[in-house]
Amino acid sequence: MSHSPANPVEITLPAHAKINWWLEILGKRPDGYHELFTIFQSISLADEVRVGLRAAPGIELDLSDPHLPSGPGNLAWRAAEAFLQAWGEPRGVKIALRKHIPAGAGLGGGSSDAAAVLRALNRLAGEPFSRERLAEIAAGLGSDVPFFLFGGTAVGLGRGEIVRPSPVQVVDEVILVVWPRFAVPTAEAYRWIQAVRKASRLTEADLDTRMRAFRRVVTERRWCDLRNDFQAAVFSRFPVLQAIRHRLHEAGAGGVWLSGSGSALFALGPSEALQEAAKSPRLTELAGCFLVRTVGAY
Ligand code: C5P
Repeated sequence: MSHSPANPVEITLPAHAKINWWLEILGKRPDGYHELFTIFQSISLADEVRVGLRAAPGIELDLSDPHLPSGPGNLAWRAAEAFLQAWGEPRGVKIALRKHIPAGAGLGGGSSDAAAVLRALNRLAGEPFSRERLAEIAAGLGSDVPFFLFGGTAVGLGRGEIVRPSPVQVVDEVILVVWPRFAVPTAEAYRWIQAVRKASRLTEADLDTRMRAFRRVVTERRWCDLRNDFQAAVFSRFPVLQAIRHRLHEAGAGGVWLSGSGSALFALGPSEALQEAAKSPRLTELAGCFLVRTVGAY
């Protein structure tokens, strides 16, 4: 319940999922992380996050899914903890999380929930932090979390935490997200890649080349020219993903890609074909289907 728009005590926000249009692993860094070039995209599939500030200290997290951790094991809980620590006020936080985004699917559900908690608390607390400071707090929670403060189509650099808006925005594109009902652990997927090349940062010219390639993919709808460096390693461990991809192509999809390190796939193509595919038993017997749209920056 919000008392007044200027001084709310509680805020409800959608926490949108993401896909990665492009995910390139440039090498392994001395700190153990991998240097990335990625293009994130917010999609309409979303969790619902309700956040309230309280006078009494403590963090309470209510979850619609009893299988997920409701304490420090949940990134939304840790986001509240990190915010309170940075803010320094002896207050408490209550979070209610209604989950719709599958976990361990490469759709960024946990990271998006955490970012929504940070955005909501910053508003409830009277904006003590700039977006840049909030992004620093977000980066301490996970590599993907800063992106979810901004949304839309955005470029991720470094370990993914350095976020810039993309010069190419993909507006209102229909995407079929296909979830095979199992999880892929991200840290393990990075080990499967066995990146040996020493990480080097991309130059502005390298970035330009990639953005030109991406612009061509979007304007000419050449969805098979996207890139995901996890795809070969993850597909070889989970052959059912290849079967799903095959069925999506049969149904008329023009490009089928892993989101992040998986397990979810996303398909692009004529929207009628995607709508038909989402209802076809050939797919639904193997996976859950979510017909979504791209969402702009918020
Ligand atoms: O940053 P985050 O906690 O989301 O990362 C989870 C794990 O994924 C890390 O512990 C690391 O093993 C791996 N990772 C990586 N390179 C990245 C991002 C994540 O190796 N750029």
